[in-house]
Amino acid sequence: MVGQWWKEDDEKVVIRCYNDRRDRTEMDCVEKSCEIGNDQTFLFTDTLGDPICRIRNTPRFIMLVAEVRNKLVGSIQGSVKPVKLQDKSVNVGYVLALRVMPPYRRHGIGSILVRKLEEWFMSHNADYAYMATQKDNEASLGLFVGKLAYVIFRNPAILVNPVNPRGLKLPSDIGIRKLKVKEAASWYRKHVVSKTDFFPDDIVKILRNKLSIGTWVAYYKNNDKIISWAILSVWNSSKVFKLRIGKAPLSFVILTKVCNFIGRFLPFLGLTALPDLFTPFGFYFLYGVHAEGPLRGKLVRALCEHVSNMAALDDGGECKVVVVEVDGESNGSDYSLMRCVPHWKMLSCDDDTWCIKPLKREENTTSLNDFTNMFLNSKSRCLFVDPRDV
Ligand SMILES: CC(C)(COP(=O)(O)OP(=O)(O)OC[C@H]1O[C@@H](n2cnc3c(N)ncnc32)[C@H](O)[C@@H]1OP(=O)(O)O)[C@@H](O)C(=O)NCCC(=O)NCCS
Repeated sequence: MVGQWWKEDDEKVVIRCYNDRRDRTEMDCVEKSCEIGNDQTFLFTDTLGDPICRIRNTPRFIMLVAEVRNKLVGSIQGSVKPVKLQDKSVNVGYVLALRVMPPYRRHGIGSILVRKLEEWFMSHNADYAYMATQKDNEASLGLFVGKLAYVIFRNPAILVNPVNPRGLKLPSDIGIRKLKVKEAASWYRKHVVSKTDFFPDDIVKILRNKLSIGTWVAYYKNNDKIISWAILSVWNSSKVFKLRIGKAPLSFVILTKVCNFIGRFLPFLGLTALPDLFTPFGFYFLYGVHAEGPLRGKLVRALCEHVSNMAALDDGGECKVVVVEVDGESNGSDYSLMRCVPHWKMLSCDDDTWCIKPLKREENTTSLNDFTNMFLNSKSRCLFVDPRDV
C-alpha cells in the first residue's frame, strides 16, 4: 500500500503511513492550508494537536500521507468496521479528512491517496468504501464520483442548535429515563437495527466509550401502555476536537451581535444568546435518534432539550452547540426528525452528501446499475450516523 508514484508532471510522490513523532507539525500546516467551506463560511477543525483524533475510537484505522521532495503535501484517513447494510452484515471502510495542499492540487495526488486507502480497506476485508462531503464541494465530488466511481446515495441534513446557558423547561407530562449500556444496546437491537442502514455491529463498544455520555428514552408519564417513545445517545465531541468559524456572512455576524445584546440586556425576552462560534467550541453529537408512536415528535424535542440542558452544565462550558445528522426525507409520513429536532436554520446545513462504492463488486451485485438502484431504493430506511465518523 505504501510506495512511490509519479504525479502528472513526472515528479515523485511518496505515500506512506503517518508517523506521529515525525509528521505532527507538518500535518498541522497541511490541515490549516485546506479550508473547508463555501465562498462565505469557513469551518476550521482544531484537532487539539492530535491529527488522528477523529478515527482513534474506531476498531481499525489508518492515516496515509503524501510527500513530494520530502515535504508533506497531503493526507487521508480511514477506518473499517462491521455494520448492517440492507439487513446484511458487511464491512465498510470510511474515508475521511482527505487533504491536498493548494499548490499541489490537480496532479493526481488526491486520487493516489484514495486508491491506496481503498487497497488498505480491501486488505481488511471491506465490502464497501464510503465518504461524506458537501454537495457544493466540486473538487471532492469530481474526484470521488467523477473519477473514482463512487455513487451518491444519501443527502442527510446536519442540524445545529445553540445551547441555551439559562436552561430549558421540559414539558411536565414527559418522563425521561437514562438507560444502562446493556439496556440501550438491546433497545437499539430490538427496535432500530432492522429499520436502519449502517447500524454498527459493535454498538456496545460505542456506548461504552468514554466519550459516550449516555442513552435516554422519553415517554408520556400517563400512558399505561408505552405507545409513543423516543431514544437517543449522546457523544461528547468536545473532548476530541474543536470547531471554529473562520469567516461568515455579514448576516451571521450581525445576528450574533444582536442576539448577544438582547440576551445580556433584555433577558426577559427569553431569546437564546448565540454562542461565540468564532473562537474554538465543542459540541455534543446526538446519535441513534429514533422514535415510534403517534406522539413521538414531542418526545424527540424533549430529549433534545434535555441534552441541551446537560450541555449547559458541561464542565468548563466548552460545549456550545448540539448537533444531529438526520436523513432529509420525511418518508412520506407527517413525522420527520427534521421537524422535531430543534435547530437554527442559519447554523444548520442540508447539503451533506454521502457516497459509496463497492470494493468487491462481482460478489455483491451483478452490475453497477443494480448496485446504484439498491442504494437509491433504500431511502425509506434511516441512516445510523456513527459518532466515531463525525
Ligand atoms: C479534494 C482534493 C483532495 C482533490 O485533490 P487533488 O490532488 O487535486 O485531486 P486529483 O488531482 O487527484 O484530482 C482528480 C480528479 O478530481 C476532479 N477534481 C479535482 N479537483 C477539482 C476541482 N477543483 N473541480 C472539479 N473537479 C476536480 C477532477 O476530475 C480531477 O481529474 P483531472 O485533474 O484529470 O480533471 C483537494 O481539492 C482538497 O484538498 N480540497 C480541500 C479539502 C477537501 O475538500 N477535501 C475533501 C473532503 S471529503
